[in-house]
Amino acid sequence: MGFAVTIRSGLGRDKSLLLSESPAGPAMPNPGRQVISSEKKRLLREAVARCATIAVPARHDVPRAWPVGYSFLPSKPIHQTTRSMPPLAEPHPSATEPTSQHAAEISPLDKSGVRVREMFRQIAPRYDAMNHLLSMNVDRLWRRAAVKRLQVVGQSPVLDVCTGTGDLALAIEQRYGSSLSVIGSDFCYDMLKIAREKDAQHRVEFLEADAQQLPFPDNHFQCVTVAFGLRNVADTDRGLREMTRVCKPGGQVMVLEFSTPTLPVLKQSYGFYFRNVLPRIGQWFARNDKSAYQYLPESVGQFPSGQALLDRMQAAGLQRTKAKQLTFGVASIYEGFKA
Ligand SMILES: C[S@@+](CC[C@H](N)C(=O)[O-])C[C@H]1O[C@@H](n2cnc3c(N)ncnc32)[C@H](O)[C@@H]1O
Repeated sequence: MGFAVTIRSGLGRDKSLLLSESPAGPAMPNPGRQVISSEKKRLLREAVARCATIAVPARHDVPRAWPVGYSFLPSKPIHQTTRSMPPLAEPHPSATEPTSQHAAEISPLDKSGVRVREMFRQIAPRYDAMNHLLSMNVDRLWRRAAVKRLQVVGQSPVLDVCTGTGDLALAIEQRYGSSLSVIGSDFCYDMLKIAREKDAQHRVEFLEADAQQLPFPDNHFQCVTVAFGLRNVADTDRGLREMTRVCKPGGQVMVLEFSTPTLPVLKQSYGFYFRNVLPRIGQWFARNDKSAYQYLPESVGQFPSGQALLDRMQAAGLQRTKAKQLTFGVASIYEGFKA
């Protein structure tokens, strides 16, 4: 089994190793007998000493029984797989090495990992400001409503996938206290960097991982959440199955996502705002990525909402699924429990 270990010195230069077995030492458990070179050992020791090691499986051959590396780390760094994590979905033919110009040229609904990651990389510095502006701060209320509905019992960890700049993960940590371990994962390093900056006390653990192949064992988290992220995941069902897999039996999986309002007048005015006003403000604000805010209404329009999403959650192995509309159905909270 191959996996990558990236050693980071703060946010500076990275050193990457590709190991064929788990390394010894406190950074990760050592299930193997493989002898690793003294240079690799030295790098690992150095990284552990600096509390800046990132060690997660790199490719598709993640052993399911692989224990959770983060719990062996002495502090809470951003765990990182590798900057060149391969996309799971087939990339857009022209998007293997995207540039800003490239991103602007490709279709707004290309959801390949490369494309989506690049889009969020570009808007990361302005993401929070844009979010609050375009939603007139209502996004904060929606996340708060989601946090309130979480059924946190005891101290098993909670995972927020597609955590982006970490707002939901931080809100969960804030509400349920420091004794609860909260992990935020996302595949866009630049979004996570901002999350980390906002979390000066390192209360939440941020980790770079694709929601379609989470580097966690089965049945590990008591709650798994995603806010405005599932819509961007190339394979929705695979994302839901992964969230369910890492959730404990009886645990809760929650999706907070835009939906389509049902009241006729609101539906029309919201549709107009979403299709015509929001992309223009977004483009003006985001400057270097024209397609990011065209992508938003398109992706919302094509994403299943209401019963359609609940059906997908059931197909992923969730029971007692239900949806709660927020702000007349502009957004919804979907939840279900693992059998
Ligand atoms: C609209 S942002 C939402 C961020 C945050 N959850 C929030 O509430 O503001 C969507 C996030 O999903 C992440 N994302 C999209 N596809 C992903 C995938 N397959 N794996 C991990 N993260 C993904 C993007 O990098 C981005 O940070």
